[in-house]
Amino acid sequence: MSETIDSLLHEERRFPPSSDFTATSVATPALYEDAGKDRLAFWADQARELLEWSTPFTETLDWNNPPFARWFADGRLNVAYNCLDRHVLAGNGDRVAIHWEGEPGDSRSITYAELTREVMKAANALEALGIRRGDRVAIYLPMIPEAVIAMLAVARLGAIHSVVFGGFSAESLRSRIEDADAKLVITADGGWRKGKVFPLKNAVDSAIASQTDGTSTVEHVLVVRRGENDVDWTEGRDLWWHDVVDSAPDEHEAEPFEAENPLFILYTSGTTGKPKGILHTSGGYLTQCAYTHKNVFDLHPETDVFWCTADVGWVTGHSYVVYGPLANGATQLIYEGTPDTPHPGRWWELIEKYGVTILYTAPTAIRAFMKTGREYPQKFDLSSLRVLGSVGEPINPEAWIWYRDIIGGGRTPVVDTWWQTETGAIMVSALPGITSAKPGSAQVPLPGISVDVLDESGNRVGNGNGGLLVVTEPWPSMLRGIWGDPERFIETYWEKFDFEGSPNRRMYLAGDGARLDSDGDVWILGRVDDVMNVSGHRLSTMEIESALVSHPIVAEAAVVGASDDTTGQAVVAFVILRAKQAEAQTAAEAEALLKAQVAEQIGAIARPRRIFIVTELPKTRSGKIMRRLLRDVAEGREVGDTTTLADTQVMNVITDKLR
Ligand code: WTA
Repeated sequence: MSETIDSLLHEERRFPPSSDFTATSVATPALYEDAGKDRLAFWADQARELLEWSTPFTETLDWNNPPFARWFADGRLNVAYNCLDRHVLAGNGDRVAIHWEGEPGDSRSITYAELTREVMKAANALEALGIRRGDRVAIYLPMIPEAVIAMLAVARLGAIHSVVFGGFSAESLRSRIEDADAKLVITADGGWRKGKVFPLKNAVDSAIASQTDGTSTVEHVLVVRRGENDVDWTEGRDLWWHDVVDSAPDEHEAEPFEAENPLFILYTSGTTGKPKGILHTSGGYLTQCAYTHKNVFDLHPETDVFWCTADVGWVTGHSYVVYGPLANGATQLIYEGTPDTPHPGRWWELIEKYGVTILYTAPTAIRAFMKTGREYPQKFDLSSLRVLGSVGEPINPEAWIWYRDIIGGGRTPVVDTWWQTETGAIMVSALPGITSAKPGSAQVPLPGISVDVLDESGNRVGNGNGGLLVVTEPWPSMLRGIWGDPERFIETYWEKFDFEGSPNRRMYLAGDGARLDSDGDVWILGRVDDVMNVSGHRLSTMEIESALVSHPIVAEAAVVGASDDTTGQAVVAFVILRAKQAEAQTAAEAEALLKAQVAEQIGAIARPRRIFIVTELPKTRSGKIMRRLLRDVAEGREVGDTTTLADTQVMNVITDKLR
């Protein structure tokens, strides 16, 4: 990994902003100056300018009990009101909030006035079902307008949403419902994907039926009709969205809540088997979403059409499909389906149809389009595009250049944005109109954000060197904790760099390796922990291993992320079968069975690309699996240094077997 980055660091191409772009750009160098002068005053200004507060805050940051930060704590606001009503009251009710396109080609354009009414109805319906401030609501929906409406309705009531990606399995949904004690689940019969309806409601049924202690906190399941597929029905528990929401009153007064009122929990993979429920709150989160969405994408809300291709099941969908764009009163596109359905030019067709001006997507998608060929984008008029963004994993310079040339017509700035579920919003990125772009580097912390790269003992590595990426000062959209597990929150992020004797010098450990080049620009090297990045999605090796060993034929399993041209990394597993099973079936049968097991336990995104059935795993004398050696095998390389293995012959046994 670091070899590739060494070669990337020799990337010499530079793309300074054009004077035309700079002339009208939203971001100006004054942002850096103001933030440099007084960081907290800068954030306070952003919070006041970008949001409407029912009660203005007087204190910007309370960091007396690190790492538990409180931002704008004595202020009060309603997040949904800020995303909806205030735009209508300001006279922008007729502006389109969402152009939605379903995969089969059906579409809806929803104005701010209409969206506000829909959310008011949904909030009334949820209130009638007993949802109150602080209650948890699980949302398991396809990319349909109701996903946004549901999230905002929950936020409007001061309740907490936990969106679970529709591609996750019933088992993943079960553990998330249970961890958060969700009272309500909002789902759909099914959604469209790759030309077919995929069911969702049945997964909710089995998730609830399999709650560990046999009872469930879920009182109701609210079902949107989308796929029109058959569903089972539990009378009294299950309700159709169109029955309860359509008939609900369309007036609803938004109650203001304190800035630190929890807004959502979003589960993400960590180093251990159990996903972490990352907790975000209201005022700080919304401030940074709005600030980054405006400045990083050069948003002109009156004229732009923004498109973030992420699913709302991921943090990118939370911050840049729902909260950032709507807080800023932007017009955006939401597309339900896959990029290649019904034809490989679907995205480009949509950009032409809606005149999309800002596109925000992941390197894995760009690399997949590079493979299919430029002839597809070239069939469509993409001249409306003026800013391109990338997120989720390092973007290699070749993909960056292709993106800019083929999609951006060689004109558009490309912003490579580094951030995480935990950071809530973008942290490191070029600013269009200001930064001279460097393909492959995420470049500079945003104004108001302080990051650094440290070595293992906490010393700054300085330009030209690599180490661990840290955030050195609290930021408004920082996670406020891990749901129900404050210890794990401290251990995971704040213990490594807790400088003794100075409690205020705790630094946030991001879990990514990074290098600073000679200009001090940041190059992200990828995760330094046991987290893989597959198609921009975080998966934990431990979680996949426990899915594998929970199958009765498996004795032991080790999972590694092997580099992959399209998906960045791919899941590769090494599995030892129980003795009897090893005789009873062929390796191919076992491989198929176990791939299905992972898809069922976690979701199709975690399905291993390859499973190698082996008889041994390489372990150190202390019993730790040496994944580095397995990665060599998975990537087809000569196996590296084996001298620290307990049994130095074991890699020969493995490679002989696989030959
Ligand atoms: C990776 C997604 C390189 C990184 C917003 C991080 C990136 C993890 C970039 C978070 C980028 C995200 N360049 N790597 N521009 N953006 N990552 O929580 O490893 O799903 O820690 O949040 O994705 O993934 P998450």
